[in-house]
Parts: sequence; C-alpha cells; structure tokens
Amino acid sequence: MAENQILGIDVGASGIKGAIVNIKTGELVTERFRVPTPFPSKPKAVAKSIAEVTNHFEWKGLIGVGFPSVIQKGIAKTAANIDKKWIGTDVEKLLSSATGCPVYVRNDADVAGIAELEFGAGKGKKGTVILITIGSGLGSAVFTDGVLLPNSELGHLKFKGMIAEHYAADSIRKRLELSWDDWGNRFNEYLQHLEFIFSPDLILLGGGSSKKFEKYKHLIKTDCSVIPAKLLNHAGIIGAACLASQNTKKTMTR
Ligand code: BGC
Repeated sequence: MAENQILGIDVGASGIKGAIVNIKTGELVTERFRVPTPFPSKPKAVAKSIAEVTNHFEWKGLIGVGFPSVIQKGIAKTAANIDKKWIGTDVEKLLSSATGCPVYVRNDADVAGIAELEFGAGKGKKGTVILITIGSGLGSAVFTDGVLLPNSELGHLKFKGMIAEHYAADSIRKRLELSWDDWGNRFNEYLQHLEFIFSPDLILLGGGSSKKFEKYKHLIKTDCSVIPAKLLNHAGIIGAACLASQNTKKTMTR
C-alpha cells in the first residue's frame, strides 16, 4: 500500500461509492467503484456492501467513511435517509469487523465539507462557510475559520412548517415533478433562511444537483456568494479519507 493513500467510502441513499485517495493531493488514485445501497438498508446488508467495496480494491489499510446520519463517537444517532435500525449502532465497530480494517466514520456532509475546504471551492476560505449537499436529503457542514461544527444537520431545520429537506431536497423536486424554476425558488428560500440565521460569508453547494447549478443559479438571491463545490460528488470520498488520516494522527499523538 503506497504512502499517503487511504480508502474513502461515501454511503448514500442510492449508492455506496469508494476510491483510494491520495490524502496529500486530494486526488483519486483509482477509478470510483460503486455498488447500489441495499434495500432495506439495514446495518448487516450495508456492512456487507462496504466489505464488497473494500475487497474490490483488495484493501488492507485505513478506511474513512462518510455516513448519512449524526455520528457521535462512531455511533449513529439518527437515520433520515437510511434504515432506522442504524440508530444506536456503533458504525465504526460494525464496519471494522466487516472489513477487517480500522474504520473511521463521520457524517457524510461533514466529510464532504472537509474535502472542499482542504482541496476544493472553500480552500483557504475564512469566516463562516456552509456547505449544503443536495440529494435525497439536504446535508450540511458548517465551518468558522476552517473549524468544523460537526453534525449541524441544517437540512432538518423546521422550515415552512416542515423539515427543510422535505421542502427543498432534490428528491422532492423529482417526486413532485417540480420544474427547475419551481424547485430553484424553494431552494433559494431555504438558503435565505440559512443566511438569516448564520450570516455566512460563503455557501458551497455539493451533491448531485450542484452539477446542475446553471439551471437554478439565476434564482439564488442571497447576499453572500453561493458557488458549486469543486470536487462535486467525489468530495464525500476524498473527505472520508482525509478524516481517517486526521484521526490516526490524533491516536498516535495521544
Ligand atoms: C441526514 C444527514 C445527511 C444528509 C445527506 C440527511 O437526511 O439527516 O445526516 O448528511 O441527509 O445525506
């Protein structure tokens, strides 16, 4: 296993994606490998799919995983877009035993944010930076002067009498067959709400719909700039690998 290389895995509602990452440059050193997220997405089944991704790379080293729930001390505390069985599961323990490798896990949007601030559109940005990932849900990562406030879950703010992601996630655009203009207006309202609460200096957009930014860019009317994340849907993989590297360093200096 080459130096500075870590396997990063991003667990999403529809797919589990992995690649080996050079954590010094933030580049993928292999092609991305994807398997569909099992349905139902119960712990055992997902752990098996993660082991499949690990085996595909014949990987025997550190693994970083971005997971779509609040993660505290390796344990999943919520499950909005994944099976409820995950709540209370020690995800790090389960995945370490399924893969036979040391595994570190954090919220998927948090790790995507880590990657964007290190290598992408947020590189070197000070002040309050918020990354919103747009997909089946709305994920968030909040930074002040480069320091992450973990598990911010801004997609679960109460908004318009409902959970914000039930109003403005991409899955809602698809389910309600909203035009890009109709969805873009909803998303703009959501971003304006975030701006009202946090007064961010910059908002980054990640996840699948950040690639379609041209379709709704003209509807975004915030004071702060809003730009698509640079690493697009690789951010989760890259950030997961970076996180694993940061954690081993911490363990070694303890
Ligand atoms: C989850 C978050 C996650 C986001 C994106 C939300 O439903 O609550 O933890 O970051 O989806 O996957």
